[in-house]
Amino acid sequence: MKKIGVMTSGGDCSGLNAAIRAVTLRACDLGIQVLGFRQGSIGLLNRDYVNLTPKKVSYEYLMKGGSVLGSINKGNPFQYLTDEGIHIDVTAEIAASYKALELDVIISIGGDGSFSIMHSLMKKFDMNVIGIPKTIDNDLSCTDYAIGYSTSVQVISDCIDKLQTTAESHQRIIVVQVMGRDAGHLAIAGGIAGGADIILIPEVPYSMNVVAAHLKKVFRSQKKFAIVVVSEAIKTVDGSSVMVMDEVNNRPRYDGSAAYIANLIERHTGLETRPVVLGHLQRGGSPNSFDRLLASQLGVYAVDLAVQEKFGQVVVTQNNAIAHVPIEHTINTYNHVNVHGNLIHTARGLGICLGDA
Ligand code: F6P
Repeated sequence: MKKIGVMTSGGDCSGLNAAIRAVTLRACDLGIQVLGFRQGSIGLLNRDYVNLTPKKVSYEYLMKGGSVLGSINKGNPFQYLTDEGIHIDVTAEIAASYKALELDVIISIGGDGSFSIMHSLMKKFDMNVIGIPKTIDNDLSCTDYAIGYSTSVQVISDCIDKLQTTAESHQRIIVVQVMGRDAGHLAIAGGIAGGADIILIPEVPYSMNVVAAHLKKVFRSQKKFAIVVVSEAIKTVDGSSVMVMDEVNNRPRYDGSAAYIANLIERHTGLETRPVVLGHLQRGGSPNSFDRLLASQLGVYAVDLAVQEKFGQVVVTQNNAIAHVPIEHTINTYNHVNVHGNLIHTARGLGICLGDA
């Protein structure tokens, strides 16, 4: 093991730089060179990299949000978009770069999209890959936590703290839209931590009659305001998701669930309601200590796996221990919120309405 490549890809989050730092420190300590590729696999394609050294990855990497290497969530090398606007397969060029740079392994810090691409590259070419999970959505299978999730939950509960006071002053309902893609992990955890009255997630079908009845009950009590947390991916009455068209990338993306629910709440209850979209605030800023620690553990473990030549694996956390599983196990099934799990039970136990009967 002489040379490791490291890259971040997919949506960014807090804690990526702490993982880059851990990989670098561990590898360099073992006499292994580390190349950090800019903008994920595109950096490997263009041989655009930085030599990472212990001096470079100072303590500031623990504190810094985003990724010093940059990240990309539309860089699928099997369908690379050229300047001419056509999609081509550039994976052979990527494999050629891997060989020319004499890499022994790529450590990919990514989510399910990045891991699917890495898995396909690994199958098609003679390339070694190890994954480190990151995603604020926490929707990757086989790991209890992915880097970035905990900080994002913190951001959500901090924002709800602020919204509670303005909702109370104005005796209003505030509907808070949180990210999470097709899973409600961020909503359920952030909503519980922030003291929400209602939490709507894609995994639990809701009825507006139930939501309206609960809000009326809240307003009949001493407490004449309410916080409703909604996942971006909740369904409308006709069963579709609330989406807008991303014109630049020509693809739909989630947005509008808070406005949709706020409007229905006003119609059903006559109570003044405002939507708030937390958006990319959930992906920014300094990682909390949980994510710094997690990123450090996973980074060190990933290098150790590389040294043992255990390739094609993702480093995960399971029941408070660090383990590893084959990449395909993390991408074959999507990790939804377990409707019989602890967080749902906790929410119900706290009297939080989940919109179901
Ligand atoms: O996967 C992370 C995530 O932040 C999702 O929660 C969200 O749906 C999506 O990325 C937003 O992507 P973009 O930054 O491309 O708008």
